[in-house]
Amino acid sequence: MTFLLLFFISRLWICYNATMKTILSPRLMKIADCLHGLSSIADIGSDHSHLSKYLLENKIISYALNVEVKSGPYMVSCKNLSPYIEAGKAKVLLSYGIDDVAPGEVEAIVIAGMGGSTIIEILNKNLSHTRSFQQLILQPQHAIAEVRRFLIENAFQIVAEHLVKEEAKFYEIICACPASKKQFREDIYYHIPYLCLSEPCEELLPFLNYKKRQQEKILATCHNKTSPRAKQAMDEAHQKILAIQKIINTLL
Ligand SMILES: C[S@@+](CC[C@H](N)C(=O)[O-])C[C@H]1O[C@@H](n2cnc3c(N)ncnc32)[C@H](O)[C@@H]1O
Repeated sequence: MTFLLLFFISRLWICYNATMKTILSPRLMKIADCLHGLSSIADIGSDHSHLSKYLLENKIISYALNVEVKSGPYMVSCKNLSPYIEAGKAKVLLSYGIDDVAPGEVEAIVIAGMGGSTIIEILNKNLSHTRSFQQLILQPQHAIAEVRRFLIENAFQIVAEHLVKEEAKFYEIICACPASKKQFREDIYYHIPYLCLSEPCEELLPFLNYKKRQQEKILATCHNKTSPRAKQAMDEAHQKILAIQKIINTLL
């Protein structure tokens, strides 16, 4: 009897969760905005699959594949997406990166909220497989310059960049497509989202000032140090400050 009651309550809870309207954070909302016009995505490292649930609920896409490497979030995703899974509009996989996403199975691969080195590891594991998808929507938490460098050196064209601020932290979103040529950029634009300069972006100036302050902190930390490593760090920080200031001047 107790078992039946618990089972009934858990089914009610699943139904209640499944019918609740999904609200995304500004960071995930910006990623969702990048996906308008696409019909299918794979969200790699989907956690509880809030992004896919929002996209399906609002009929922005018609199919979402969700990949999670950890069983806890995988199970929550299965519950959150249960009506869509039953309708054949969503799938959840307990898997690593894009290993079990068939080539071209979805139009876009989303990898958000992970470190840049993990993102590179996932994309670099099988480059021809990665190149079978029309778009990559990436939001690295750090090592963002390295992600841009990886994309450009492997002939992915960066087609859009976005900045979003959430709870006093800046997030960068990079949209890229496989291309035939490598389109290199000036060194500073591996650290700064170059494409944000050519469109209205209210976060750009505060972001540039923040990046400049970061480099000033490096200068202050290395100030009394004489090692070759400290000298190199100071030289690089100095170069970056000059380059960032030059960009700031064009915006004022
Ligand atoms: C911090 S959460 C980000 C969740 C969501 N993408 C977001 O942006 O809010 C990162 C998730 O990625 C998963 N993850 C990390 N490495 C992964 C991999 N190689 N393949 C699939 N999932 C991965 C983690 O288990 C975790 O749930």
